[in-house]
Amino acid sequence: MRLDTGKLLIGALGVLFLAPVAYSVIMAFIPENDKSLITHSPQTSSMSGAELYSKCAPCHGDNGDGTDAYPSLNTLTKERLIEMLVGYQNGSYGTINNKKIMQVQVQGMSRGDMEKLADFVTNLKPRQKSADEQKKKEQKKKEQQIDITGISS
Ligand code: HEC
Repeated sequence: MRLDTGKLLIGALGVLFLAPVAYSVIMAFIPENDKSLITHSPQTSSMSGAELYSKCAPCHGDNGDGTDAYPSLNTLTKERLIEMLVGYQNGSYGTINNKKIMQVQVQGMSRGDMEKLADFVTNLKPRQKSADEQKKKEQKKKEQQIDITGISS
């Protein structure tokens, strides 16, 4: 078969011009939430779960117990924790006021690193809260509920 350079050239140009069109058509069918996971597919680090968690500990506590201002992580299941991290990453999870804090933390984090983190965190043992602490926590919850409804007695 004889090579027809003219036809080859037209074919090559066609592919060149159609590639972006094909790309945008394919992307249009992928839901917005999944895109961030596709467009930047970050590398999994060589760090262990404990090493990765050292970045989280200043806020969530060495043991994942959290504080009044930061939620505890060590009572979550592995699946739920990963779900939340992915949610922060694609913007579908978190409170309006504070989710930005977490979005920065998980920016560019790979799925593999999330798994390592979740494995580490869910194996931490929650610290037993003293009766006093428990009472304070419940009291605070009640106060917050009053704040929301605006009816204080
Ligand atoms: C600068 C402080 C800070 C650091 C560091 C931080 N977090 Fe957070 N984290 C927060 C705050 C504040 C919230 C609550 C955000 C909101 O209201 O949506 C939160 C929420 C979360 C939640 C959701 C908990 C729930 O029950 O809703 C998870 C999971 C979480 N963080 C995991 C991590 C992990 C894993 C790291 C480390 C990679 C980390 N955080 C680092 C402050 C921090």
